[in-house]
Amino acid sequence: MKRFIEPNELARDSRFIRQDNAMATVLASMPDDVDAIVAAFEQFSPMIEESVRGTAAQELFEAYGPAFTLVVLNEPLDPDSAAATMRLILRMHGIFVGELQALEGAARSLWDFPDAPWEFKMNMARQCWDEGRHVQIFEKLLEHLGGHVGMFPESTFLFEAACSDDPAMRVAGVNRGLEGLACDVFRDMIRYAEKTGDEVMQQAVDYVLADEITHVRFGSEWVKEFTKGDPEHLQKTQDFRREVDKQFSFGGSRSDREDAAIPIAWEDRKEAGFSEEELQDLASVSAEGPSKETLTQAAQILRERFHAKRNGEGARS
Ligand SMILES: [Fe+2]
Ligand SMILES: [Fe+2]
Repeated sequence: MKRFIEPNELARDSRFIRQDNAMATVLASMPDDVDAIVAAFEQFSPMIEESVRGTAAQELFEAYGPAFTLVVLNEPLDPDSAAATMRLILRMHGIFVGELQALEGAARSLWDFPDAPWEFKMNMARQCWDEGRHVQIFEKLLEHLGGHVGMFPESTFLFEAACSDDPAMRVAGVNRGLEGLACDVFRDMIRYAEKTGDEVMQQAVDYVLADEITHVRFGSEWVKEFTKGDPEHLQKTQDFRREVDKQFSFGGSRSDREDAAIPIAWEDRKEAGFSEEELQDLASVSAEGPSKETLTQAAQILRERFHAKRNGEGARS
């Protein structure tokens, strides 16, 4: 079996639609400037439209235009907000494919490094077992909310953090970056389920979160072990994780800012081996994106222009 596969080599059945990841990268590096954001989304509009065609996200595209992801990412999930259920299902679908990629990432970490210590392989095998269970739990939760597998496109930006051929970098990106993000998102989902009184979702996600804390801890411990006695190597893994964390912050949507859609799960991350200093660093890396006000203004302009253009096309035909 081949070692070190590319994200486009991940096997999927015909239910899945693949989405280009370019937008997540663009979002991570956007300045706090309305015009620049509007220009970027307009440039990507045909690609975004193409990627949502035939999926449930087409409805969101038609309602909000190319920047529908900004609305989805930027606004905290609130049961009383417009299209709340669809947005919740969209997030749940994103988590489901994220779990699938986490399973694939952990399995690749087990396979790609034959010379790694036995304990590392056992930890990765344990993680595969957990992630396999998570895939099933989130598939069921998706159905519990009225959704189904394949209704939204899948972006492989999570698996892309799992492609380093250095085991220290691999666990830094996957177990500390990706699994850390999972802690933030799941803590937020539990809060949401408490608000809506959805005990099934609350309890299921709580069980999953307990596993994710263990996975982050694997990362915290193995980064130390793989870089023992080599401070330069340790620094490289820290820099890589910061880069991954910046991408996973979606322009500040996941951050410690007061206006964050997904707050950092400070306490859970401490339990998982993040130091206070690393958390302060994460807070500053993730807060670098555009402000919520900028994103809201940009989304509004894009929405208006999108509808004006659609109406113009309608009038001409
Ligand atoms: Fe998981
Ligand atoms: Fe995990």
